[in-house]
Amino acid sequence: MLCAHFLFDCLVLPLNILIRIRNTLSSSVFALFRRLSTMTIPKTIPMNMIVAVDASNGIAKDNSLPWHLPQEYKHFQSGTIKTNDPAKKNVVLMGRKCWESIPTKFRPLKNRINVVLSRAMPREISDDFLVLNDFDEAIRILTTTEPFASRVETIWNVGGKEVYALGLAHPLMKDLVITRIQKGFDTDVAFPEVDWENFERNDDFDGKEIEEKGLVYTINSYTRKTFGK
Ligand SMILES: NC(=O)c1ccc[n+]([C@@H]2O[C@H](COP(=O)([O-])OP(=O)(O)OC[C@H]3O[C@@H](n4cnc5c(N)ncnc54)[C@H](OP(=O)(O)O)[C@@H]3O)[C@@H](O)[C@H]2O)c1
Repeated sequence: MLCAHFLFDCLVLPLNILIRIRNTLSSSVFALFRRLSTMTIPKTIPMNMIVAVDASNGIAKDNSLPWHLPQEYKHFQSGTIKTNDPAKKNVVLMGRKCWESIPTKFRPLKNRINVVLSRAMPREISDDFLVLNDFDEAIRILTTTEPFASRVETIWNVGGKEVYALGLAHPLMKDLVITRIQKGFDTDVAFPEVDWENFERNDDFDGKEIEEKGLVYTINSYTRKTFGK
């Protein structure tokens, strides 16, 4: 009798405890998986880029656009304002000279969150206008801090040269929308070199020739092949 009790204490009881621990663990692991699967995983905010280049890849002369194309400007306006979610806004991210080249009465660009990069201007952060002195910090603030992370649909990188170059090398870079004007101007700033092997042409713009004010241009959009991969 004593021996049976001893066997029960030494073998059956610990086994029972082990089974209970295993059952508790597996139900909490199951609960954890269930919780993870119902959690909303925040989507990445993409960075798109929009530019108009001349026949020599030039984008500016004496801190302004060397051409005056109202229809092409409308394409810039509508493209950077449009959102799929009406509750959200897009960002226009630009360098200080680009900001200064916008006539005072038109800036900040309406219906968009304007973000200016400058190492000289004083830092400023408000709901719709920011001045920051570092590209990566700007992306971090816009994508990970409120009220921006949940309000921003797309970051539109609108140049100039250094801001474009940093954007082209950034993992969030997605679409490149480019207007190619078929005439050379006397420009002093160029769009950075693009490795077109990394991009795939889309068919959202048909790329047909558009004539405006005696100039001919085409509009095409490309998506970075490795975006989201
Ligand atoms: N054709 C087009 O599609 C197109 C597009 C955009 C612009 N543009 C034209 O291009 C011209 C401006 O281009 P841009 O290349 O000369 O100048 P920009 O990029 O607009 O401005 C350069 C300035 O931005 C600031 N900046 C740039 N990168 C920065 C960084 N990583 N961190 C902090 N600050 C940074 C610096 O400002 P601080 O000196 O204040 O430190 C720098 O001097 C304008 O004429 C504009 O009209 C044309």
